[in-house]
Amino acid sequence: MKVVETVARLEAFRRARAPVAGVEMGLVMTMGALHEGHRSLLARARRENTVLVVSIFVNPAQFSPNEDLSRYPRPLADDLELCRHEGVDLVFVPPQSELYPPGFGTKVVPDPALTEAMCGLARPGHFSGVATVVAKVMNLVQPVRAYFGQKDAQQVAVIQSVCRDLNIGGRIVICPTVRDPDGLALSSRNVYLNPEQRSTALALPRALDKAAHLWAGGERRASELERAVRTVLASESGLEVEYVAAVDPERLTPHQDASGPVLVAAAVRVGSTRLIDNVVLGQH
Ligand code: PAJ
Repeated sequence: MKVVETVARLEAFRRARAPVAGVEMGLVMTMGALHEGHRSLLARARRENTVLVVSIFVNPAQFSPNEDLSRYPRPLADDLELCRHEGVDLVFVPPQSELYPPGFGTKVVPDPALTEAMCGLARPGHFSGVATVVAKVMNLVQPVRAYFGQKDAQQVAVIQSVCRDLNIGGRIVICPTVRDPDGLALSSRNVYLNPEQRSTALALPRALDKAAHLWAGGERRASELERAVRTVLASESGLEVEYVAAVDPERLTPHQDASGPVLVAAAVRVGSTRLIDNVVLGQH
């Protein structure tokens, strides 16, 4: 497994392999602190591609000044070990100055229709930061397939839209959310939770289960699905609701078409930790 820190070495790697017949490059982008959720993306990408590139970069452009950039976990040695174990060919671990050198001034601004609600409300500029780094790394690696997790549903919608609008090639492959046995979606931020907060946080998957249960019983009204989620969340003290939304999974507009799939997503705060989760209902 190669570990490279510079754009020049990453490009040299791609240039050497891209023209070889049968080479299909897969890409998994991460911010490190790798867990089973990331591992599921790596395993799938490993199966479906001949060459697997992983990036590990805690992208400052997607953190606001009041967020957890400096305390974000960075267990690089463990991450590299996991990558080696999963058969990764190249890990790209750029320092900040490599992706944002002096003079860097461009921003990718995603369609505001996708970023002005849900996570975008509490995190202004966040999705522009995500879109900018994703565009850069997709352009550098030029993968045949790039893998992203459904856990970050709004991020998926934004990345699909940005890649389509900017003609960034490669297929975007969406992988299901991986959960701990107790139901909590895996996240690098779960390490911030103490045991009591963790049990409080379980209200989030429980609330989404409730919406799934109602859907299975025939409920199609967005307002009722949202209300059910809010009711379960409200039953837990120590948890603050940031938003609950029942929307079209791609356009993120309010769910109206009763026959179509619906994304039920929520963000909460437990102590100072922000957690998101979602479920897509009615998708075949
Ligand atoms: P990060 O939070 O490290 O996540 C990297 C990828 O793993 C994302 O596509 C995310 O959706 C996926 N992922 C995280 N937790 C998951 C889980 N429990 N189940 C399935 N997939 C999961 O998302 C980012 O980094 C960044 O915004 C990035 C796209 C790398 C741009 O900086």
